[in-house]
Amino acid sequence: MFLKLSAKATFARTKKPSRMPNSSSAAKGEARPYEPAKGPAVRRITAGAIKRRKGTGAFPMITAYDAPFAHFAEEAGIDFILVGDSVGNVVLGYDETTPVTLDQILHHTQAVVRGTSRAHIVADMPFGSYQISDEDALRSAIRLVKEGGACSVKLEGGKHEAERIRAIARAGIPVIGHIGVTPQTAGLGPGYKLRTNREHLLEDALAVQAAGAYAIVLEVIEPDIAREITQTLAIVTIGIGAGLACDAQVLVLHDALGMYPHSPPFAKRYAELGHAAIEALRAYRDDVRRG
Ligand code: KIV
Repeated sequence: MFLKLSAKATFARTKKPSRMPNSSSAAKGEARPYEPAKGPAVRRITAGAIKRRKGTGAFPMITAYDAPFAHFAEEAGIDFILVGDSVGNVVLGYDETTPVTLDQILHHTQAVVRGTSRAHIVADMPFGSYQISDEDALRSAIRLVKEGGACSVKLEGGKHEAERIRAIARAGIPVIGHIGVTPQTAGLGPGYKLRTNREHLLEDALAVQAAGAYAIVLEVIEPDIAREITQTLAIVTIGIGAGLACDAQVLVLHDALGMYPHSPPFAKRYAELGHAAIEALRAYRDDVRRG
């Protein structure tokens, strides 16, 4: 499969790939500039379809930040993709997600959208893009959908961000909440430790649901509490370090593929692509040195 994909990538550099919109159809208004050209019958999976997966068995979500890896995820049958602000850590070299900007998320969302055709693409709302006011939050969410091509957005926070969720959902943009460890502000105080305050977490989860979110990320939450939240809510729970009872699981791509050295302990590494890349580059170096 990898060979097939490599061939495609090489082709893409030499000839305009058929997945990209051609300029004449874009000019005629047939395809938006960030969307792959596709037949009218091919539609992206909607937030409603994701919500209907609740209770049908656990399903995966993965992060992606660029076209090739988003394509790999879709080829692997993962059709729920998050353009996480974890891009700050795993791609941009920051220690935290806090510095990531809306323009950076837009840039990566566009790439992920171009690399996929059916997957539901969620764009993460970065720190500072929604906290100030409902209007600001809605403006940011609209940019992610309109310019980025995202199918839905995610923001961090429970009851304190419920009004923002409501404002975005009311405008017709599907939203995901995120409680437990919230990395955008974890480094400013609360840290990354396991969250165990049952009442507080349930209250947050219920507030996110009542505000109109279609799903909620539960990050580093005590597994029994995550199970109770999953059983209590009608919306999809997406766990990361929150046990096995959640409706869906999400992993950061670079953790799953072994491309980031500081993976959290709960993140299973399914490959060691970092080592493979170093080995391949050493082989290239040696070939060149040998002439
Ligand atoms: O930014 C991200 O990748 C996330 C996931 C860890 C849920 O928010």
